[in-house]
Amino acid sequence: MLTVGIICAMNKEIAYIKEKFNATLIEEKHSIYEAFYEGKRIIACVSGIGKVNSAVATQRLIFNFSVDYIINVGIAGGLNKSLSVLDMVIAEETVYHDFHPLELLEQENGLGTYIFKCDNRLITLAEKACEKMKESGKIKNFTKGRILSGDCFVESDEVSRRLRDEMKGECVEMEGASISQTCILNEVPFLVLRSISDFADNGAEMSYDTFAVKAAEQAGEVLCEIINGL
Ligand code: ADE
Repeated sequence: MLTVGIICAMNKEIAYIKEKFNATLIEEKHSIYEAFYEGKRIIACVSGIGKVNSAVATQRLIFNFSVDYIINVGIAGGLNKSLSVLDMVIAEETVYHDFHPLELLEQENGLGTYIFKCDNRLITLAEKACEKMKESGKIKNFTKGRILSGDCFVESDEVSRRLRDEMKGECVEMEGASISQTCILNEVPFLVLRSISDFADNGAEMSYDTFAVKAAEQAGEVLCEIINGL
């Protein structure tokens, strides 16, 4: 049976998924849930926030549950000014914004790259899912591109402008690239999917508080569509 690993950083990001899949808590210590949906086994977990937590959770899902795919779902701060709150971003690739110099990741015994490419099949399924949700009015818009990750909540006009202009991010969050790196090291196909809760600018905290739950729910809905297609 195909096993899909789902990683969310926070409880609010997994709430919709848990309910939708009628998931059972199978490992309380690591917040791991199991569900069966459309002939697939789903293993979903709450990793905790940040790069280390999410990398450890990814490795755990790969080692202990032999997942065939990993999908990271959640919310993010938008960097591209043409995005609106609750728009979806499908990562084609993920990059750290707080690893300097990034080129060190290209060196021997490393990955050979600092740009972590998501799985093409999962990207296509996510696009189809977003198009369907757009047609039915459940989401307004979506885009594909680079998602940036780092160990900080970005809430500065200046930083968000730099991340867009210099690092070409569509949005910024705190786990996607570390999950990607762990998947690449283990040769597991992966996708990062985010819904915009704020704009990583001076007003980020207020927007986050208002939209985080709704954005997380929406990302969960897109995820269900993706799993339907797998
Ligand atoms: N997740 C949601 N909004 C974020 C932000 N502004 N910075 C980092 N991670 C986020």
